[in-house]
Amino acid sequence: MINPETDRVLITGAAGAIGTALRAGLRGTWRHLRLTDVRPVADLANNEEAVIADIADRAALDGMMRDVRAVVHLAGMIGHYTLEDLFRVNARGLFDVFESARLAGVERIIFASSNHAFGCYPITETVSPALPPRPDSLYGVFKVWGEVMLQNYYDRHAIRSVSLRIGTYRSKPIDQRSLATWLSPRDVVHLVDVSLRHPDPGCLIVNGYSNNTRLKTRDPNWATLGYQPRDDAENFRDVLRVRGVDVDGPDREEWEWPEHGGSHARAPEHPPR
Ligand SMILES: NC(=O)c1ccc[n+]([C@@H]2O[C@H](COP(=O)([O-])OP(=O)(O)OC[C@H]3O[C@@H](n4cnc5c(N)ncnc54)[C@H](O)[C@@H]3O)[C@@H](O)[C@H]2O)c1
Repeated sequence: MINPETDRVLITGAAGAIGTALRAGLRGTWRHLRLTDVRPVADLANNEEAVIADIADRAALDGMMRDVRAVVHLAGMIGHYTLEDLFRVNARGLFDVFESARLAGVERIIFASSNHAFGCYPITETVSPALPPRPDSLYGVFKVWGEVMLQNYYDRHAIRSVSLRIGTYRSKPIDQRSLATWLSPRDVVHLVDVSLRHPDPGCLIVNGYSNNTRLKTRDPNWATLGYQPRDDAENFRDVLRVRGVDVDGPDREEWEWPEHGGSHARAPEHPPR
């Protein structure tokens, strides 16, 4: 177990959307937070310190790992990026974060993976993390690579980890697919909190979703971890309907996108190869 009172936790990508939610939700109970991002991290609380650096800067990474017991690795390219960005940040940067953590004696890594790690499964199929990955994009391929790296770190170096296959992280659901894949700010905070506190998660992969009525996943690892999400995208059904979203299709198992990965699984490969 990582102790919220005494242990230092490093959050990479702390200036981003999920990092900002985690800071707000964790800083009341986690006494020693070190935050890093290539962008400025705003409004530091007394128990937060920030290191502004690119994760491509290995010397900076090695410095910020000092006295750190757990790393929450969020930094990464998401949305618009080139192939070079993807290799530099989501592959090499990820390697350097994990390797720097290992050499510094970090005991636990929480990794922001993605549901694009299994995005090619048909949405009509209820899937679990026990199934083989079926990434829907290069972005998803690199997330799987991060998960596999952590299996190696567990088997060879006994570093405990939880890879979070995050669905659609937003303050509210945004489209039909997110009726199944939404992860709320409150639930992501809870998910990271239990991932840090668990006495021994081994090397675990969990789906990062809220308690959505229309979940198309089944995840026994939620119980293993003690993750009990409280939010449900279904409560936003009327709001989505007013915005023109076909919220009734899923009642008939008719989804706009036939795969778990949504548009990622059908759109032209991005970045182009
Ligand atoms: N938001 C989602 O729905 C979602 C879904 C699945 C997975 N994820 C994963 O969760 C993580 C966080 O996502 P987010 O929504 O907060 O994204 P975000 O873009 O808001 O945050 C990512 C942060 O990483 C930082 N970053 C990027 N390149 C960097 C570099 N070279 N060095 C240091 N920092 C760098 C950015 O400045 C940014 O603050 C990402 O790894 C993403 O792939 C997010």
